[in-house]
Formats: sequence, C-alpha cells, structure tokens
Amino acid sequence: PSRKGSMADVPKDLLGEIQKLEELFTVDTAKLKQITKHFVSELDKGLSVEGGSIPMNPTWVMDFPDGSETGTFLALDMGGTNLRVCEITLTDNKSEFDIIQSKYRMPEELKTGESEELWEYIADCLKQFIETHHGGEAPTEGKIPLGFTFSYPATQNYIDEGILQRWTKGFDINGVEGQNVVPMLEAALDQQNVPITVSALINDTTGTLIASAYTDPKMKIGCIFGTGCNAAYMENCGSIPKLAHMNLDPNLPMAINCEWGAFDNEHQVLPRTPYDIIVDKESPRPGQQAFEKCIAGLYLGEIFRLVLVDLHDNKHIFEGQDIKYLRKPYTLDSSFLSAIEDDPFENLQETADLFSDKLHLASTRHELELVRRTAELIGTRAARLSACGVAAICTKKNLQPCHVGADGSVFNKYPHFKARGAQALREILDWPAKKSFKEEDPVEILAAEDGSGVGAAVIAALTLKRVQKGNV
Ligand code: GLC
Repeated sequence: PSRKGSMADVPKDLLGEIQKLEELFTVDTAKLKQITKHFVSELDKGLSVEGGSIPMNPTWVMDFPDGSETGTFLALDMGGTNLRVCEITLTDNKSEFDIIQSKYRMPEELKTGESEELWEYIADCLKQFIETHHGGEAPTEGKIPLGFTFSYPATQNYIDEGILQRWTKGFDINGVEGQNVVPMLEAALDQQNVPITVSALINDTTGTLIASAYTDPKMKIGCIFGTGCNAAYMENCGSIPKLAHMNLDPNLPMAINCEWGAFDNEHQVLPRTPYDIIVDKESPRPGQQAFEKCIAGLYLGEIFRLVLVDLHDNKHIFEGQDIKYLRKPYTLDSSFLSAIEDDPFENLQETADLFSDKLHLASTRHELELVRRTAELIGTRAARLSACGVAAICTKKNLQPCHVGADGSVFNKYPHFKARGAQALREILDWPAKKSFKEEDPVEILAAEDGSGVGAAVIAALTLKRVQKGNV
C-alpha cells in the first residue's frame, strides 16, 4: 500500500507536522549542556544527608576487581523482561570465566500480581536450574551462595540486603515496597527445600561496572540502556556525606547505584512533550522516573504510538482508517522502532509491512516518511539525553579519559544509538573533532561484559574476599 515519492512533494500539512515534531523532540547542544550541569548538582544532592530526587544508593561493593578473583557462583538476574539463572566459574586464568545459564520468561501477569507468586516463581526457576545441573544437591556442605541481581532501587545497609524503595519499569506488586526482598526470596527457597542462600544483592548497573572492570581496568562507569536506564560508578566513602555517621575509612571505594532514572522528577530542565506527560500520567508511578521515561526501551514505543494517535486524531495520517490496534497502550515496543529505523529509506517496505501486519493500517509513502522521521526523532532524543548522565558523572569525578561499559537492548540493538550518544558527548564535553577514525574519544561508551551474571559472580567473590579479610 505504499507509493513512491520524495520529501519534496510531501503535502504542506504533513511537512508542518514534521516541523512541529522536530521542534518538540530536538535537544540542541546548549540544552544538553544545561541538563548536564543540573545533573552534576543532582548527583551531589543525592549523596548529601538531605538527599535529592536521584537516590544515589550505596551498594557495599567496595572494590574494583583485579582479575584474579576465582570460584564458582550462582547468579540470578531479575531484570525487567527476563529471568536468568547462571552458574559462573571465574577461572585461574586472569579475567577469564565459564558460564552456563538458563533463561525463563517473566510472565507479564507476575509484574502486577501478588508478592508470594513472584518469589515462588523465582524459587521454582532456581530449583529447576540446580536440579538440571547438580541433581538438586548443594555441591558442598551447606547452601549454595547466590548473587541476586535485583534491578530496582533498593536501600542497602549490608550487601545482602535490599529494601525496595519503589518499583520501576512497569512493575507494581503489592507488599514489597519498603520491605527487604532477600528474606522474601529465601523464605520461598526454604519452602521448596532449595539449598541456596543470597550472599549479595546487586543492581544490574553495579554488576555491569564490576564485570567490565574485571576485563578492562579503564572502565569507570557501568550503564544500562534497556527496559530501564541507569548507571553506577565508584565513589570514595569520604565523599558520601550521608554515610559520614558510619565513620568509614574516607579512602575506601564504594560503588554507587545512581538510579538516575529519577533525574528531574521535578521537571526543571528536561524537555517535555505532551506525549511524555501522557506516558507519565498513565504509568503505575506517575511523577517518578522522569529521565528514564524519555530514554528507556519500555517507553520509546509508547511515545511513538502516542504521537501517531495524535496525528491521526488531528486528521493528518491514516484518514478514514480504523486505528483500533494503534489505540492499545504499550502495543509497540522499542524493537518496532528499531525495525523502522533500520529500514532502507528508499522504499520503507518493512515499515509498510509492519504497519499492515501488526496494526492493520495501509500507509502512503508520505505517511511512511513521517513515521520514519518520528522514530528518528524519538530515538535521537533518547540517545542524546542519555549522554547527559554519562557526561555528568565524568565531570563530577573528573574521569576523562575513561571507558564506560554499557549493556541493555536499546544500547545493543537500537540503530545509531551508540553513534548518536557519542556525538552528544562530544558536544557536551567540547572535544575537538577526531583526527582519524581510529582515534579514541576521551570517553568511550563500549559494550560491557554481562553484568548481571559475571558481574554478580565477581561481586560475590569480592565479598567473600572482604569477609575473609575481616573488613566491613
Ligand atoms: C530501572 C531500575 C534500575 C535499573 C535500571 C536498568 O531504572 O530502577 O535499578 O538499574 O532500570 O535495568
């Protein structure tokens, strides 16, 4: 159902709509710099006694690995989309590891169901895993230690504790917020006689930071750009005023899980379109995760859908067609946008097919061009805004030059996300143009090692080392 044509003969009203969207979604260099400046002060606020909107959670991960960590560990990754169980062996060969893993689907209904059902399901997956790999037996006396990657904001007074501050990424399970999730999981494990004990609770960003540093000592920040969006970096205890009462050695390192998804919850600097306002209002936690809602994979498709519905309702696209499929919230995920951005512009055939197969809509060439431009604008804004967070940590900690380890579906799969983010970093941090392709930027955002698996194992190993040394 598509016709050939060029932007030159796009009807005037559609061109006008494209221009309006460009104005709404474009974030120029000056704005990026303004956001970054505010970001730096919000990072500081989060570490202060009074606190701010970015939680800046101390994680009790207090060491960078040196690559010599060894041992076999279980890791459980409860991200936003999948559940994964891994057994990781850190080998005697420096920085090398073996991994076996099983993936389980995280049933959609569990995300908004009852607490007991969630823990039972997880305990069941762990049980299946050790039955498959160990015949259900603990390999040594006692219980098997587990690194639990629980990627939500959690208060930790110890490394094996995690009091959920609030659900993010669309989760909404009663009776967990404000509670320590570790005993909840352990009770479910006990009930099913699974010989596992949680030895460390880990955020995916902290895991990413540590796993990346295990193989590349230049890695100073761990980021996730996936269903959610967040980062972790190393602070020194002496620069964390909210921990001053504990009289820790000021030179000890402490990984901080920023939970930067909450940046600008008070709407002071981020550009906000009418579509962002609707995404927020209709989410289970309005007013929270303002930054994340512009960047993370969970929301990109929804922003895009809302733009298209608006264009239709104002009689600009799909006139005379029934858009009932497009009206369904969260019907398009970020892979839909990825596919559109990947589609060769000459014919946009894949885009036309997607609209007809998934949404039962026939599209003209002009509509397809508008759809493509909309995806580009949303994807570009996400990448450019995400660079503000990276630039803020680099500025605050004076980290240039360094590497940043990044993981997550948006970072790994969304077309041009990396290049757009790198371009924005260049603008924010005022780097001169590269002399050759081979030359590295002062801050390079690179694909990370598997943080939620390998990172969790390395953290479990570091924790063990620390306990054996009799440190905190
Ligand atoms: C959300 C969570 C955070 C996690 C991020 C990426 O922002 O709150 O803990 O790191 O998603 O998964």
